[in-house]
Amino acid sequence: MKLDDITTVGMAGAGSMGAGIAQVAAMAGFRVNVVDVSEAVWSRAEKTIAKSLERIVKKGAMTEQEMKETLARISFSTDVSTLQDVRFMFEAVFEDINVKKELFAKLDAVCGDDTIYATNTSSIAITEMAALVKRPANFVGMHFFNPVPVMKLVEVIPALQTAEATKNLALEMAQKIGKTAITCKDTPGFVVNRLFVPYIIDAVRLLEEGVASAEDIDTAMKLGCNMPMGPLEFQDFAGVDIGYHVSNIFYDYMKEERYAPPGLLRNMIKAGYVGRKAGKGFYDYSEN
Ligand SMILES: NC(=O)c1ccc[n+]([C@@H]2O[C@H](COP(=O)([O-])OP(=O)(O)OC[C@H]3O[C@@H](n4cnc5c(N)ncnc54)[C@H](O)[C@@H]3O)[C@@H](O)[C@H]2O)c1
Repeated sequence: MKLDDITTVGMAGAGSMGAGIAQVAAMAGFRVNVVDVSEAVWSRAEKTIAKSLERIVKKGAMTEQEMKETLARISFSTDVSTLQDVRFMFEAVFEDINVKKELFAKLDAVCGDDTIYATNTSSIAITEMAALVKRPANFVGMHFFNPVPVMKLVEVIPALQTAEATKNLALEMAQKIGKTAITCKDTPGFVVNRLFVPYIIDAVRLLEEGVASAEDIDTAMKLGCNMPMGPLEFQDFAGVDIGYHVSNIFYDYMKEERYAPPGLLRNMIKAGYVGRKAGKGFYDYSEN
């Protein structure tokens, strides 16, 4: 199958990532059939996409008419059978292997033999997921970054079972929807998180060892390395519990001490200090 043969793409999941992927695919001219579990979820996604497009119009990068046409190319449903004619399927449902397994079983029952599945998982092995579907050769990882309309990178990750043609189609798809793709092996964290996670863990260790305060560690990385956010601020933003979970995945796979989650993270979770969403993490947000 060639990229030109694809006019409609499917999007399973309309959360933060799904809404973003649906938006960039529609901006590239694809019709996008989005499926999520309830109308309440997709109406939130619809609003997010509309607001994001309005910002693009305000910047002068899109006309009002183009915005309307882009929105009109996106349709929403709870019914997986609306995906039966789709030949390229993005997946961004919850990061839970059982949820993904159930979804792919439903997709296998309705999608055609040549449909490509591109998962956006951050932490589940692509090879493990490919083993769940009828046609593993058509399965590939396409890891986007949040917020999708802004972040330029996509990591394309072939599973052991992925056909070369599937990988190439994913690379072409990434380019068509305005992204720069890199290719990498199916290992925890791919490239970006493989480098970024140990950096975050080391920042927690510096704090644990009393080398510097949280504020000073963050200031050091913002002013010394031009990072937009310090590592501990980032951890609060993304969720201390998520950081702990990801660190454990790395450690389980690599069995290297440097990936082991610091004790401070475990204790913070026990105390309920999981970051901004809880009002407290490395910083106190109770005033906000
Ligand atoms: N948030 C990030 O920064 C980020 C970055 C890269 C990759 N990812 C990956 O993207 C995926 C989605 O993450 P997210 O942050 O968008 O999550 P999210 O919780 O915002 O959205 C997930 C969506 O999936 C929907 N969903 C659950 N079960 C479903 C089903 N059976 N059918 C259809 N929809 C279903 C939920 O209703 C929800 O709207 C995960 O695999 C995650 O690892 C997330």
